[in-house]
Amino acid sequence: MANLCNLDGVIVPEAEARISVLDRGFLFGDSVYEVVRTAGDVPFAWPEHFARLRASAAALRFDLDLDDGPLARRIAATLTAAGHGDSYVRIVVTRGTGSAPNIDLACATGRPCWAILVRPLASISGKPTKLAVIDRLRNDRRALDPATKSGNYLNSVLGLAEARAAGATDCVMLNAQGFVTEASTANVFALVDGAWCTPPLHAGILAGVTRRLLIDFLRDSGDDVVERDLTVDDLRAADEIFLSSSLRDVAPVTHLDGRALHDGKSGPRSLQLLQRFVAHAAQLVTARYAPQWRTLLAAHS
Ligand SMILES: Cc1ncc(COP(=O)(O)O)c(C=O)c1O
Repeated sequence: MANLCNLDGVIVPEAEARISVLDRGFLFGDSVYEVVRTAGDVPFAWPEHFARLRASAAALRFDLDLDDGPLARRIAATLTAAGHGDSYVRIVVTRGTGSAPNIDLACATGRPCWAILVRPLASISGKPTKLAVIDRLRNDRRALDPATKSGNYLNSVLGLAEARAAGATDCVMLNAQGFVTEASTANVFALVDGAWCTPPLHAGILAGVTRRLLIDFLRDSGDDVVERDLTVDDLRAADEIFLSSSLRDVAPVTHLDGRALHDGKSGPRSLQLLQRFVAHAAQLVTARYAPQWRTLLAAHS
């Protein structure tokens, strides 16, 4: 079945979707986005993703001209038209078409442009990962704050390329203080002295939806989980490491800088957590996210 794009409310095959060369997302990465996976026709953790989309836009000083209800309807219509079942949904909002190819916000005269891409979900849940600590630093919070999920991902693009060149499948980026931040499109957890440790938001990371759900889940399950600064030495000494993201859930790290961890296999604690978290996520869909989604759609039908 076709990959579809809902462009400003009109559903077209992805390959036929067109935006202007004066679109500021195209010209400057002047956009925000979210990636959500669905369980059937229900986007997982939609309220959290929409809240972050709104916060990202506010950080870039632009107003979203579509609220969560009307946006939910567009997403639902596109999911229905695509008919994929479990889907990958990418919502991109650019600041719109400008009056000139000029960075000045005075030239940002257009309305935001909304693109919703819907594809069948190619699951990478739990995918084993080879990690490399790279030279390239994560953006400084006072520059382009990593907490803002903007369309300007070149730092991550180049970070991932650096990791690939080193024979890894993802990177760990440090901040200017030398502390661990995150991977190219995922958060990092390490098992240190029996506690799952993950860098705090002030290290300069994206506040991952999965990261938050995992912290709450681990705490509620009685596991030790700590948000604290981590060094490369902490990672090297860790019993296990995993990455978290909406698409990966819990992705065990099998290698660090070319060194095999637990014989190059997924760590047992990470694997166990993956299974527990996937079951927990399915329960959340039934008990929380499906009812919320249906209520939101019904209120805007
Ligand atoms: C830089 C970065 N960190 C972390 C994540 C994980 O966030 P989430 O769990 O909300 O998918 C992403 C997701 O794309 C990301 O781009």
